[in-house]
Amino acid sequence: MLKIEDLTVEVNGKTLLRDVNLEVKKGYTNVLFGPNGAGKTALMRTIMGFSEYKIVKGHILFNEEDITGLPVDERARRGLGIMMQRPPDMSGIKLKDLVRVASKGKKNPETLAEDLGMEHFLDRDVNVGFSGGEIKRSELLQLAAQDPDLYLLDEPESGVDLVSIEQVGTTIKELLDEGLNCPGERCERGKSALIITHTGRILDYVKADRGYILCNGTVMCSGNPMKMLDEIKKKGYEECIKCRLMM
Ligand SMILES: Nc1ncnc2c1ncn2[C@@H]1O[C@H](COP(=O)(O)OP(=O)(O)OP(=O)(O)O)[C@@H](O)[C@H]1O
Ligand SMILES: [Mg+2]
Repeated sequence: MLKIEDLTVEVNGKTLLRDVNLEVKKGYTNVLFGPNGAGKTALMRTIMGFSEYKIVKGHILFNEEDITGLPVDERARRGLGIMMQRPPDMSGIKLKDLVRVASKGKKNPETLAEDLGMEHFLDRDVNVGFSGGEIKRSELLQLAAQDPDLYLLDEPESGVDLVSIEQVGTTIKELLDEGLNCPGERCERGKSALIITHTGRILDYVKADRGYILCNGTVMCSGNPMKMLDEIKKKGYEECIKCRLMM
């Protein structure tokens, strides 16, 4: 569904990503690990098409279409959706209006908001004065309305308290499971996702298929996400970097 080939990206003349290769198959949930400043958010924002990221080499394919040159709104129309790590405040725009526009009028903002306990936030300006956890739930509400095919989730659990994490985790699982298909041993989710996580808490709710570790703007290794998380918890990112050097 998503294929990133040899992607090199600059911002203001500084290279943030170098020769990145990464794939998310249809119905798969992949995870992106990496230390602070590795370029994880830059990668996600480049996939979504934010204009400050200049692609100097490589391609982004979505459903086999080359979307490298497409603006963000065209990518959203094709089924890409993002939950940002730090979304902006939008003064003068009520959350319910944004949710209504995102859902193209198909879904009722009140019904969507109730599932996330956000019904009392609908008349407030988007993110203005919201707490860290409320911002995450507001982002999730907008995504639920948009109903994308590929979810880009940048640290969905950060700042979310231990009780609300269950609500956020369960909502993400339900969104990704929509249209679940189990023809044989393996069930295929209706939706695909790329999730950035430091703690791995979200993986208690959403089973991940493949993990990637990004360091210094480059994918260092990929593999079983739970084993990778275990390894990172025990030894940090060192082992991954070592194995890259040995290759
Ligand atoms: N507009 C910009 N101009 C200059 N440098 C930038 C810009 N945007 C990002 N960077 C730098 O690129 C690097 C990667 O940033 P990014 O936000 O992608 O990291 P990250 O892996 O998401 O880290 P974290 O885990 O802390 O969220 C950082 O050193 C950051 O300061
Ligand atoms: Mg980040």
